[in-house]
Amino acid sequence: MTKIKLTTKSFADLPQKYCRVVLTEDKPNWHRLVEVKDGGLEYRMGAGKRKDMTVRKYRTLVRSIVQAAKSHKLSEIAIHLGPMGCPELEKKGSEWYFQTLAENLSLASYEFTKYKTTKSKDGLKEILVCGVTEIKDKKSFTTGLITGEATNFTRDLANTTAEEMNPTSLAKAAKSAVSGTKALVKILSHKDIKKLKMGLLDAVGKGASDAPKLILIEYWGAAKKAAPVALIGKGITYDSGGLNVKPTGAMHEMHMDMSGGAAVIGAMRAIAKLGLKKNVVALIPAAENAISAESMRAGDIATAMNGKTVEILHTDAEGRMVLADAMTYAEKFYKPKAILDIATLTGAALVALGQQASAVLTKDKDLQDQLVEIGEDTGDLMWPLPLWDEYQASLKSTRADYANIAKNFSHFGGCIEGGTFLSFFAPKGTPWAHIDMAPRMESIASDKLAKGAAGEPVKALIKFVETS
Ligand code: BES
Ligand code: MN
Ligand code: ZN
Repeated sequence: MTKIKLTTKSFADLPQKYCRVVLTEDKPNWHRLVEVKDGGLEYRMGAGKRKDMTVRKYRTLVRSIVQAAKSHKLSEIAIHLGPMGCPELEKKGSEWYFQTLAENLSLASYEFTKYKTTKSKDGLKEILVCGVTEIKDKKSFTTGLITGEATNFTRDLANTTAEEMNPTSLAKAAKSAVSGTKALVKILSHKDIKKLKMGLLDAVGKGASDAPKLILIEYWGAAKKAAPVALIGKGITYDSGGLNVKPTGAMHEMHMDMSGGAAVIGAMRAIAKLGLKKNVVALIPAAENAISAESMRAGDIATAMNGKTVEILHTDAEGRMVLADAMTYAEKFYKPKAILDIATLTGAALVALGQQASAVLTKDKDLQDQLVEIGEDTGDLMWPLPLWDEYQASLKSTRADYANIAKNFSHFGGCIEGGTFLSFFAPKGTPWAHIDMAPRMESIASDKLAKGAAGEPVKALIKFVETS
């Protein structure tokens, strides 16, 4: 574990054990580790011309510092990072600046070593941020540490094996995520799910030995009568594909198919710890899409909580089914002012956008703009795809009301198809957006983060609640 601390001191006043990180205007990637006069170490690192610094480059720069420290096996580093006379950073203001610094130091320090039998002892022990004197900057920095930690909490949940992270353990994790805060956790059992006639969630969970659950986290930080924001996260703890089994190479990462649910849990952890004056409810329909004699079959017809029937043409299109029932539940019991659902819904989202951004699908232009902007601000990038009515026809079933995939088995526009299915269940008149985060489930090299779960879009969700 890396400790991240603040001090009002400057480099000159630090003990020798700290390696000072000095940024130069050389090209990014340029670096030298040098011994300085007092015998201490200095790590000089190119950050490019100050006038060219951008919000995106800044996040990567902060992460690269931590990566460099790790690869040089430095155990204590000191950094001194004001806005450095970078016009774009100065424009963002000091609150953004210090929060982003803390967040990204924390994200880059994270490593998942739970299943490693030999743990390295010479890791990065401490990062000391120098020259921070203003109370408001310290406060922003602390906010960043809280959101960073909550994101790392999410990454732990997603990186854990499906054997250890089933619906029951995900429910326990939700409780521990917000323990000691004023957030409330309620777990609806399989019996409750059947009583509520949540036939889609029930169908998806039928093949597994650990029964499905609906995990609810409520946080009432504003007046009780103010309508909450609802965050709905896909909680498929393992997606084998069901009887339409996934091929080799497409299955082994499906312990992360609860990443949307994990993101929502992490966001609630941060929101509750920060004490935001907002009302928020989180809903995580949790189930394992498993294979057994009890599994749902392609060709089965299930009845959703809202009374509509769904022909299951493909057992691997399970995420949209559990989310549909969670949306009906959210509307019925919470009357939310806005709904976001967050899900690793389709491989097609990766085909559309690559691994750089999550897809956002909504008919609400303001909500779309808000989310794209929050993505840019927090680094959890999101980019829109259309939800035009023309896409609906292929999902109208011949035997039931809807089909869970296109009835001609077309592979075109799969991400939009998922969003369109969900739109049938989104309450009319409530602003709603679907975030297909499959592209951002895992980190990629350019993220400069540990491999595995990326912990997106926790930061964006917190910001969304803050600004709604
Ligand atoms: N969980 C998967 C989608 C996924 C794929 C997430 C890769 C992350 C990485 C989802 O449940 C799924 O299987 N979707 C199908 C939909 C299809 C059957 C219409 C897909 O993407 O192939
Ligand atoms: Mn699936
Ligand atoms: Zn899935």
